[in-house]
Amino acid sequence: MNKVTQLYEGKAKKVWTTEDPELLIVDYKDDATAGNGAKKGTIHDKGIINNRVTNHLMKMLEKEGVPTHLVEEISDRETIVKKVTIVPLEVIVRNIAAGSLSKRIGLPEGTPMKKTVLEYCYKDDALGDPMVNEYHILAMEWCTKEELDLIAKYALKVNEVLSAYLKEVNIQLIDFKLEFGKLSDGTIVLADEISPDTCRFWDTVTHEKLDKDRFRRDMGGEEDAYKEVMKRLMGE
Ligand code: C5P
Repeated sequence: MNKVTQLYEGKAKKVWTTEDPELLIVDYKDDATAGNGAKKGTIHDKGIINNRVTNHLMKMLEKEGVPTHLVEEISDRETIVKKVTIVPLEVIVRNIAAGSLSKRIGLPEGTPMKKTVLEYCYKDDALGDPMVNEYHILAMEWCTKEELDLIAKYALKVNEVLSAYLKEVNIQLIDFKLEFGKLSDGTIVLADEISPDTCRFWDTVTHEKLDKDRFRRDMGGEEDAYKEVMKRLMGE
């Protein structure tokens, strides 16, 4: 399968069409941005790590009954995925308060949530990805009620499966962001990535941050943190 034309270039990935109209190739970059593009940099080999970690986790989620866009990893940085129409929502799941939730409601980072928190943000860079609720989503027809119920069900299942799996390698899943898409036949599948760019991973014992917050907050050590996540998950 070959790349034909570049369909899109995002902050962390390029997406290419292929000879097959139903399939795309995703090409992961080392570029890192934070604060909606306000901070820019690179994290050496991030593209390789995010490609491999995403595919590793998506394969596991498929086995657990969460359909994904994954078809096949074809190189260190490239993966064939099913073409989807992205539902324009960032679906955020939170187990422990951190980041924007801590700021918004004044809860110190690290406070466990008594109940899993599910949030939706409207994917729009110009608007800064504002948080929206189910009423907004249905009023704007970004998806149907049935689709949103399925998205919520899958997001909570991803949380259950990943939290348990990561715990075995001493990683606490603090929170994460998912995106979903629709195949040409209307099936909802998990799309985009699941990586240290899109999840907060803390070492269970030391609470050391093993994710993009190291870059966002100028803490340093992001390359080692990303490598450590891959090592713990994939043994390399
Ligand atoms: O910044 P905030 O606390 O809302 O982020 C919640 C989770 O969603 C974090 O794991 C973060 O990495 C992820 N996220 C993301 N892309 C965004 C916003 C948040 O991957 N645009």
